[in-house]
Amino acid sequence: MSRIAYVNGRYVQHADAAIHIEDRGFQFADGVYEVCEVRGGLIVDLTRHLDRLERSLGELRMRSPMSREALKIVIREVLRRNRVRNGLFYLQVTRGVARRDHFFPSEDTSPTITITAKSVDPTPMLRKYESGIKVITVPENRWDRVDIKTVGLLPNVLVKQQAKEAGAQDAVFIDTNGNVKEAASSNVWIVTREGVLVTRPAEHGILRGITRTTLLDVAAHLGVGFEEREFTVEEMIAAREVFLTSATGSCVPIVEVDGRPVANGHPGSVSAKLRGAFLDVAEKTTI
Ligand code: PDD
Repeated sequence: MSRIAYVNGRYVQHADAAIHIEDRGFQFADGVYEVCEVRGGLIVDLTRHLDRLERSLGELRMRSPMSREALKIVIREVLRRNRVRNGLFYLQVTRGVARRDHFFPSEDTSPTITITAKSVDPTPMLRKYESGIKVITVPENRWDRVDIKTVGLLPNVLVKQQAKEAGAQDAVFIDTNGNVKEAASSNVWIVTREGVLVTRPAEHGILRGITRTTLLDVAAHLGVGFEEREFTVEEMIAAREVFLTSATGSCVPIVEVDGRPVANGHPGSVSAKLRGAFLDVAEKTTI
């Protein structure tokens, strides 16, 4: 089956999908994106993803390419045309095509929008849930506005590759006070020895993950106590459980940090319980 992408008003063959070389996304990473999970033919947390997209656009003073209702129609159409039942859609908006110049282009420049969708084989992720993953810690070296979901992900790409070359699967950014920020493409959580779920506040310095927000709802639903506060690397290593959340992986257990076993080297029961209840609590929208 051929893949279809949406590019600025047209559904095109994925292999032929292209944007101009002077697109500001390409020239300056002047764009924002969303990744949203699809499970069992249902879009997970669509409203929250579209809310965050609007916020990212607003923070960068970028125009939305279309109304929310129109966007929903196109997203569904891309998912349908690609027959995605389990997988994701990826949506990107940039400030559009303009002669290379650091200043914003003129007001009438149309934003660029692309949407792609793909089916994802769940097997590798299920394996991660069973065995857990290894991470390395790295000093935070990104800009100050990581709360905006921009396509400027070079530091994230570099640390993820560094993790791979070190025999790990992900990297966790640490701030100058030794506190855990977030991973290269997910938020970080611990379960303390006392059984309390802890994650860093999302007001500043991390992306407010949609999975993170919904997981807090899941914790409340299950009666699992939680705190939004900073925690150190030492606390993470001493924790009963450590795990990551993102739209592409719900709760992924961590069993090793910088070569040191955490959580006795095994995925814990709290993350499994939260993962199990996630879809019951999350918003689900039919395609
Ligand atoms: N990444 N932090 C960062 C830096 C991220 O890139 C992501 C998501 C998250 C988790 O956000 P959410 O729960 O909304 O997926 C946290 C996506 C999946 C990506 O870049 O592919």
